[in-house]
Amino acid sequence: MIKVNKLFKQFGSQVVLNEISFEIKPGELLVILGESGSGKSVLLQHLIGLIKPDHGVVEIEGRDITKLRESDLLRVRRDMGYLFQDGALYDFMTVYENAAFPLREHTRLKRKDIKTKVLDILKMVDLKGAEGKFPSQLSGGMRKRAALARAVIMDSKILFCDEPTSGLDPIKSRNIMDLINTIVRKLKCTTVIASHDIINSLRIADRLILIRQGQIVAAGTPAELRSSKDAYLQEFFN
Ligand SMILES: Nc1ncnc2c1ncn2[C@@H]1O[C@H](COP(=O)(O)OP(=O)(O)O)[C@@H](O)[C@H]1O
Ligand SMILES: [Mg+2]
Repeated sequence: MIKVNKLFKQFGSQVVLNEISFEIKPGELLVILGESGSGKSVLLQHLIGLIKPDHGVVEIEGRDITKLRESDLLRVRRDMGYLFQDGALYDFMTVYENAAFPLREHTRLKRKDIKTKVLDILKMVDLKGAEGKFPSQLSGGMRKRAALARAVIMDSKILFCDEPTSGLDPIKSRNIMDLINTIVRKLKCTTVIASHDIINSLRIADRLILIRQGQIVAAGTPAELRSSKDAYLQEFFN
């Protein structure tokens, strides 16, 4: 369970998060919607503990992570997977090595078991046969899928994705969102996706929150958002 309560953050005189509150249930797929610059990434970074709020609470599994020391935070973060905006693969490692990296770094799994696990995940993200390729040899969609494989390889209970469709064409965008959906349901991951891609978000989310000017202006299931009076949402549905 993730609980956000009255989260407030300003940079200089700019208030980015103005007392935002919401909850994410275990196994739920929540999308944070908002236009560019609305504070989606800033909110996500609070959930991971990369930014401390001016005030407010981010409770993960009963612990307020805004109060944790860096060393405890690192431990909490180890149970989370992230898919950042630009994929952020290691350029000097192959797809296989990128996906295996967290296992090599943080577990004592044997080489053979690492191999089984990595090949299994790479198959899941449709990168079978691309194990030996370097990031520079991959298409944008393949890079996202490789980053997704690395993000879920540790069997994390929570997955955070920031703009998983950025830089992709409509078909690839749809594919990566569907893939995230399939994988997190299979792994029973609690998932938080920040996105401005309303159409694909509505297809996969259990619930969505729309943020604007530091506040949640609409929230609910895809069906509930369809009947929202919000002009920005209405524009999409009509
Ligand atoms: N570290 C920072 N210092 C100052 N301003 C920031 C910082 N990070 C984000 N901002 C500002 O906060 C606002 C929200 O940014 P962001 O969360 O990246 O938007 P989004 O992800 O929704 O496009 C923007 O106006 C951005 O310039
Ligand atoms: Mg962003």
